[in-house]
Amino acid sequence: MAVGERTIAVLGGTGEQGYGLALRWALAGERVLIGSRALERAQEAAARVRQALNGRGAVEGRENPVAVAEADVVVVSVPFSAQATTLKTCRDVFREGQILCDLTVPLASSIGGPATRLIIPPQGSAAEQAAELVPRGVKVVSAFQNVSAEALADLSSPIECDVIVCGANEAKPVIRELIAHLPGARYLDGGPLFNSRIVEAITALLIGFNIRYKVPHSGIRITGIPFEAPGNSP
Ligand SMILES: NC(=O)c1ccc[n+]([C@@H]2O[C@H](COP(=O)([O-])OP(=O)(O)OC[C@H]3O[C@@H](n4cnc5c(N)ncnc54)[C@H](OP(=O)(O)O)[C@@H]3O)[C@@H](O)[C@H]2O)c1
Repeated sequence: MAVGERTIAVLGGTGEQGYGLALRWALAGERVLIGSRALERAQEAAARVRQALNGRGAVEGRENPVAVAEADVVVVSVPFSAQATTLKTCRDVFREGQILCDLTVPLASSIGGPATRLIIPPQGSAAEQAAELVPRGVKVVSAFQNVSAEALADLSSPIECDVIVCGANEAKPVIRELIAHLPGARYLDGGPLFNSRIVEAITALLIGFNIRYKVPHSGIRITGIPFEAPGNSP
């Protein structure tokens, strides 16, 4: 599906990370639905995106299940403590063939601990937990866990970060196109969803770097793979 023809729902798009992605994708011409538990908050966040883009941008607000029902790609951008509940409230409206992209990082901060510490979900990763909570036939991937919300919101700067995508191979070309909308970011195929536990853990490390080196947003770059390696460009 071409840019503008598909619909991307960002559940929890009222928060920092989801808002930043919605902003970047709307800027690139994608149709975006910001999802929330409350329609009013979703509509307010959508209005903020349109304002940031000087009135442009095909962005609207929806309650989370309504956003899922309308979407081709569903991005889950909520704290780990809210991930299961969010997906359970939408379970009945997911349909076969949809893409679910999970970017949840299971940080201890979501249960009152430090953001530099990771919780290990029983399934091994937040993404594998997400995969258990949606119907079979939904193509589940994980991505964007290492990209900072601040970098996404700053439209004047490139996003200096590789984006490792783990999970369903059929979904990867679409996510690669969405990554291509983030200037400076590079798609890397991270293999199966099982590997998401490694990618999620890196975020806790990056938050520690931000604190120790007093920088706003560290990111990752994998060396030894040419930037334009086959399959990296959409
Ligand atoms: N912030 C970053 O720089 C960053 C970077 C990489 C990855 N991440 C990951 O991305 C995800 C979202 O991060 P964020 O900073 O955007 O989170 P956030 O602002 O704390 O929350 C995002 C949204 O989740 C919903 N939410 C919060 N608590 C909830 C609850 N108890 N039950 C149901 N929904 C709830 C809220 O939406 P409504 O109230 O509108 O429903 C909220 O606006 C997290 O898993 C985080 O680890 C964040």
